[in-house]
Amino acid sequence: MKSIQSIVVCGAGTMGSGIAQVAIQAGLKTIQFDLNESALAKSKETIQAQIKRLVEKGKLSEDQKAQMLGLLHFTSSIQDCKADLIIEAIIEKIEVKIELFKQLAAINGPSTILATNTSSISIDAIADGLVEPSMLVGMHFFNPAPIMKLVEVIAGKHSSPEAIELLMNLTKTMGKVPVLCTDSPGFIVNRVARHYYLEAMEMVSNGLIDIESVDSMMEAAGFKMGPFKLMDLIGMDINFSVSNIVWEALGKPPRLTPSPLQREKVANGELGKKTGKGFYSY
Ligand SMILES: NC(=O)c1ccc[n+]([C@@H]2O[C@H](COP(=O)([O-])OP(=O)(O)OC[C@H]3O[C@@H](n4cnc5c(N)ncnc54)[C@H](O)[C@@H]3O)[C@@H](O)[C@H]2O)c1
Repeated sequence: MKSIQSIVVCGAGTMGSGIAQVAIQAGLKTIQFDLNESALAKSKETIQAQIKRLVEKGKLSEDQKAQMLGLLHFTSSIQDCKADLIIEAIIEKIEVKIELFKQLAAINGPSTILATNTSSISIDAIADGLVEPSMLVGMHFFNPAPIMKLVEVIAGKHSSPEAIELLMNLTKTMGKVPVLCTDSPGFIVNRVARHYYLEAMEMVSNGLIDIESVDSMMEAAGFKMGPFKLMDLIGMDINFSVSNIVWEALGKPPRLTPSPLQREKVANGELGKKTGKGFYSY
């Protein structure tokens, strides 16, 4: 394959929706797949609103808007998921991701690249569950995907060099900055950033400071978002899974122990912006 012309984005949640928007803005024929019809409807609404805003800001013309939205199709049927590249952005659970990739591999040809947007699951561990592990690569976008420039491209030990090169080039075509990473727990950003969340929750749990003060101080210190606002944006379920996966993969070091605050928020269904309540209410 010389270049990627068509994409399937699996998952229409926070990340899948943003990645699909990035794909159509780069002129790629894009199918968004989710088992949940209401997630698809919400994603469609979000993408349309975002593109409309770009027109209002004068960054896109009406013609460009029509062209971009014409590239995007939504489906809840896996049989429609055929493309040069599949980007998976579903729930952060290895067994669910492997099962999905197995089904996708059976539907697609051997040259289709399978990319996972996982935040923390080992690329090799997913690839080991597949018949053809060389086509699996990590492609980790950051939230919100249409705005954040960085993309970690993660090479597993089986990943095909040609697939990696195609993804590095595609990322640049999308106006992003790719960084090639090796497959290690949390890759780069999520490993370094663990402490940003965990230390903040530790201080709040110990009654040393309140949530609002931590956020406003970190923002005053130059961080774009305080840790609690950022966790609400990421989604508590996703961030808690990442905390657990990184902690376990590194041999459970005490410094990275997931916080009881995260566990409590997940148990209460207070997942952040996507459910209307997390550390803050929306
Ligand atoms: N939220 C973030 O800030 C962030 C950032 C980078 C990477 N990620 C990663 O991206 C992935 C998705 O995260 P998210 O925050 O978008 O999650 P989300 O909860 O917002 O959305 C997940 C979507 O996947 C769908 N889904 C679940 N199982 C499915 C299946 N078998 N087939 C098709 N669709 C299915 C759900 O219906 C849901 O709409 C995760 O692997 C996460 O670690 C998240």
